[in-house]
Amino acid sequence: MTKTLLRTLAGEILPTQPIWMMRQAGRYLPEYRATRAEAGDFLSLCYNPDLATEVTLQPIRRYGFDAAILFADILLIPQALGADLWFVTGEGPRLSTVTGPADLAKLRGAADVHETLAPIYQTVRNLAGALPAETTLIGFAGAPWTVATYMIAGRGTPDQGPAHALKDTDRATFEALLDLLTEATIEYLSAQIEAGAEVVKLFDSWAGSLRGDDFARYAVAPAKRIIGALKVRHPGVPIIAFPREGGDGYIGFHAATGADCVAVDDSVTAEWAAEHVQVSGCTQGNLASRHMVTGGDALVSEVRRIRDAFAKGPHIFNLGHGITPEANPDNVSLMIDTLRENA
Ligand code: CP3
Repeated sequence: MTKTLLRTLAGEILPTQPIWMMRQAGRYLPEYRATRAEAGDFLSLCYNPDLATEVTLQPIRRYGFDAAILFADILLIPQALGADLWFVTGEGPRLSTVTGPADLAKLRGAADVHETLAPIYQTVRNLAGALPAETTLIGFAGAPWTVATYMIAGRGTPDQGPAHALKDTDRATFEALLDLLTEATIEYLSAQIEAGAEVVKLFDSWAGSLRGDDFARYAVAPAKRIIGALKVRHPGVPIIAFPREGGDGYIGFHAATGADCVAVDDSVTAEWAAEHVQVSGCTQGNLASRHMVTGGDALVSEVRRIRDAFAKGPHIFNLGHGITPEANPDNVSLMIDTLRENA
């Protein structure tokens, strides 16, 4: 098998770790900005299979990453369930809110998401036919808790306060929303796999705000249900879970959910993650995104440190979170060259 990402996910320790980057298709690239301008706005780009294929391929052409991630967004699922969704330039997403049983009742069923999402599956099919033979295609979805935080608040929130409040004041609605999202996510990821995604990743960007029992109930349990269902429907397709800022929750996450790989952000050190997380399976991460802005010797020494800390087990090199628009594209090359310097 030539695909280094799949070999690593199967547990092989390769002399050179495979690398890709969260948000690798994005505003730091001039070619992305040009295609996005052609599409008009961000959502039009997501739903245009030709242009979404093009922006997915741009970072592969420029850098030769070992994996391509489907260009889409975690908030397409709420939209496919019937929520209104729009993006305010410079501010972020806005959605119609779910604050009680009446809002929940207006949403569609999990099996009804495919009509809206059909163009996304077309992008996956395009990519499956267009990628170089050595490049792995990753599909993705948001985890139920993270997607719910946006649906409940109607926007991004620094502390996920509205979602925590609904959990405390109307747990039945909160849990019914998480159940619906869990089922819809199984449908969505399953369809991505059928269209040609070779790996899928579950982004739980706000898992870190789930404290105490809530982490087990609303980060671990939904991930376990989604991964369990996908393993039945698509045995052999590896799954990466990303419970961002999971802290001690990262420990045992492989076993608790069945994930093949656990991605770690940069709130933990690579040395800690190698000792406590990589012992249980493949890891991914965890260079701080700011090094893509600042570069230089600090970038080089951090890449070496992280690479070496994770060298004793299977590891996929990545950032701890997405690359930011102000990043310098040359620093991405420096990261890749440093990772591969001994190859
Ligand atoms: O990684 C990739 O290159 C694949 C595409 C991808 C996007 N979003 C494209 C995008 C992926 C995997 C995501 C995931 C996503 N989307 C997450 C989870 C990961 C994370 O970052 O924590 C979240 C929370 C979202 C929701 C979202 N989408 C927000 C809050 C925003 C606005 C903030 C911002 O960065 O502008 C987006 C917009 C978005 N999604 C952009 C891109 C390239 C920027 C939109 C633009 O071009 O204007």
